[in-house]
Parts: sequence; structure tokens; C-alpha cells
Amino acid sequence: MKNIETMQAVPIGMGMSLPAKSKYGQFYADVITGLSATPKHLNSKYFYDAVGDKIFQELMACEEYYPTNCELEIFSEKTAEICNAIIGSGDAFDLIELGAGDATKSSYLLSYLMEKQADFTYLPIDISENVISYLNITLPVTLPGLQLNGLNGEYFQMLEKAAALSNKRKVVLFLGSNIGNMQSAEAEGFCRELRNHLSDGDMLLIGFDLKKNPATVLAAYNDKEGITRRFNLNLLERINRELGGNFDTGKFVHYPTYDPETGACKSYLVSTEEQDVKIGSETIRFARDECIFMEISQKFTVAQTDKIAKTASFKPVYHFFDGKKWFVDAIWVAV
Ligand code: AVJ
Repeated sequence: MKNIETMQAVPIGMGMSLPAKSKYGQFYADVITGLSATPKHLNSKYFYDAVGDKIFQELMACEEYYPTNCELEIFSEKTAEICNAIIGSGDAFDLIELGAGDATKSSYLLSYLMEKQADFTYLPIDISENVISYLNITLPVTLPGLQLNGLNGEYFQMLEKAAALSNKRKVVLFLGSNIGNMQSAEAEGFCRELRNHLSDGDMLLIGFDLKKNPATVLAAYNDKEGITRRFNLNLLERINRELGGNFDTGKFVHYPTYDPETGACKSYLVSTEEQDVKIGSETIRFARDECIFMEISQKFTVAQTDKIAKTASFKPVYHFFDGKKWFVDAIWVAV
């Protein structure tokens, strides 16, 4: 027995139990806590199992979902400017990507940096185990010679692991407006914690989806093909698959909202009837029309992003925009 006995066991259906700190134990505990709360909620980080990763790929390719295309435009058209900013005086660095996904966007930077013979190691971090094994297999083929070390896990735990591996300066990538998945206090706290893991002069390249026509935003989270709807419902299916749940996804409806005043784009699943759902040994009761808050995708003004930088002891030094100014990738230096 290692330190298993110090962990609290979480019941997960008939005769099975998992330590709360194991991956599934944490998932189960978060799901039960979230669905026992008022209002009910689930954490959108759990969208990304193997099925969710695939649906998100479809979503990025669909007509209405603009953020990926905007950021791809920035990375493909401003590659040299972005890379020169990252290379700076030319010291060796670790390029750490939080939530790397399929690394399509960062690949533009990686190949340019290699072409310029920049001295760096790429450390993609992702919550999805599936994503990391994919990157560890494909990147050495598409970018031969790349120094690579994929890390599967939570951002800060893996960031600490990355920091322990070398004392080179750090350039952190946090793209795709992933920060928008946090409520504003949490986003500020996140940037402050990130800053605490960095040293003066280290850099952060961070993507923010900007406020724009509210109809454009809402359409991106309510696509006609229903991909976003499937993306949300997949989390209920994941609970069924991994935690012994019995959600009937036919009894939940996808409800996306966007508030142009606050820039909060939120999605909910609404229970179409009164129902009981079993998850392992727990029963969760839903009233008719009761909502599960699934995800926030916050939209920002550039001024708001600059303010977040300053509160977290970063200095915003560059802003790279797409042609429509729908998205910004900012470079912040730790000060
Ligand atoms: C990957 C978090 C940036 O919030 O826009 C897409 C996820 N959710 N459609 C976003 C998502 C619904 C996406 N991020």
C-alpha cells in the first residue's frame, strides 16, 4: 500500500470504489458535487474524452464556429512576427502549450521556429490522454528533429513537472480562448497562479475571443448541424460510460445563451421532464425544465485583456489580430 489508504474512497456503483484522488474518483466526485448543487453544473473540462475530442474537431471545422479560423489566420499570416517576439535575444527556451489539442495552430510556430534553428523543446500539456499520445506519435513524423515531451494531466501539475525538467526560460502558449472557459475571478486567479510558476522575462502567448456582433457569437455555439448540442450531450454519455450513469440524452435539450453586456456566452442542458438519473450509487433528481450549466465561453474587449495582464503582473507587449478583429493573440511578459 502506498498512500492509497490516506485517500477517501468514492463509491462508484455495485461493489466498486475508487480513491477520490484517482482520475475517475475525481471525475465522479466533481460530477456528484456539481449535480447536487443549485443551480446544477458540470465542469466543461470533462467534455474532452476521446469522443469529445472528435466532436470538437468537427466543431472547429463547422461554418459557424469562427474562433479557430480566426486564430489560424493569425498564426499563418503573422508567423514571423510572433516567432521573432518569442525568440527574442535567442536564448534556449521551453515552449509549453496548455491544452495543446491537435496542435494545428502551434504547428505553424513550431515549423517556423525549427526553420530558424531556434533552440527549444516543445512541451504540450493536455487533460486528454488521447491528445497527448496522438501528439507523441504524429509530431516526430510531421516535424522531424523536434525536441518533444508531451505531458498528460492538469495544467499546473504538469507545469510544475515541466519546470522541474529544465531551468531554461519559459514561453507558455494558452491558445483558443481556453481562458474563456473560466469565470472572470477564476481567470484572474489562473493568470496570477500561472505568473507565480514563471520567472521575470518569461512569456505568455494567450488567445482571447473578442466581443463582436452578438448574433455571430450565439451562432457559433448553436450551429445548425447540432454539433455543439452533441458536444454537450456527450458529457452525459461520458458519465454513463465511465461512472455507471443512466442519463437518457433524449430527455435533455441544448440551450445556448449570449449576453452582449457581460460578454458571457453560456450553455445549458435543460431537462425536458421530471426525472431521476442514477450515477453509480447516487440518484440525482431533475425537475421539469431544470438546467445544468455546462460551459461559459467568455468574450472580452482588448482593454479587459490588458487589465487581466496587469493584475496578474504581466506586461502586454504585443497584440496580434485577425483581419476582422474578432480574436486577439497577445504576448505578455512576466514582470
Ligand atoms: C475550446 C474552450 C475555446 O469555449 O469556444 C466550443 C469550446 N464549446 N463550442 C469555446 C467550445 C462549445 C471552446 N474552447
